[in-house]
Amino acid sequence: MTEHEYLQTPKPLIKLVEKRSEGFKLEGFVPGQGKKQSQIMFVGEAPGETEIHNFIPFSGRAGDELMKFMAIAGLTREDVYITSSVRSRPYRWGEKKDRKTGELIKRRYNRAPNQAEIYAQAPILDFEMKAIQPKLIVTLGNIGLRRLLGKNFTVSEIHGELLQQPIQQLASLDENRFVLSEKNYTIIPTFHPASIFYNRKLLPLIEADFKAVGAYKKEYLT
Ligand code: URA
Repeated sequence: MTEHEYLQTPKPLIKLVEKRSEGFKLEGFVPGQGKKQSQIMFVGEAPGETEIHNFIPFSGRAGDELMKFMAIAGLTREDVYITSSVRSRPYRWGEKKDRKTGELIKRRYNRAPNQAEIYAQAPILDFEMKAIQPKLIVTLGNIGLRRLLGKNFTVSEIHGELLQQPIQQLASLDENRFVLSEKNYTIIPTFHPASIFYNRKLLPLIEADFKAVGAYKKEYLT
């Protein structure tokens, strides 16, 4: 596959979103990854420490789990477009004890993005959605789900369901408000792959959701 078939985030758009992100505890920028012709788009939360160093979405521990789940649906990274609600790493300062010296060392920890950060970076996901026009969107966790469908949705209630409905996009660059798209999209929500690190019981549920993704692909996608 040649380079030009991969979607590139336009530089002026990255600059715009960097400007909108000033003042937030966000670092780095990891573009979404995948070909323009991708039929399936995965929408996660935000990159973590691994991703902001190698610029590959879902390349850390959560990514390893995502790749295993995608295999259940007969998919690899090459087959899909992978992105998140926020494309910079949200961090918080914390302290960690140095094992050898016992000294407390200040370091950055990953955290979930807040609503203001999601609005600040919304133009990126809106751009990706318009450029890719995915035939199926798989949201990973509540952040991705609520970014696209709205605050009243909860992953544990609707994971694995096949939804057909409009998605949220930023009303305008001057307003922190979403409006619904004119077009309907097809969405299967599932949990964030990192959720199994905290709750092993979710594993069979996520596996079943990815079987549903695989079944949808077999029936409707090429
Ligand atoms: N979690 C996400 O939601 N996105 C990434 O890129 C990595 C971890």
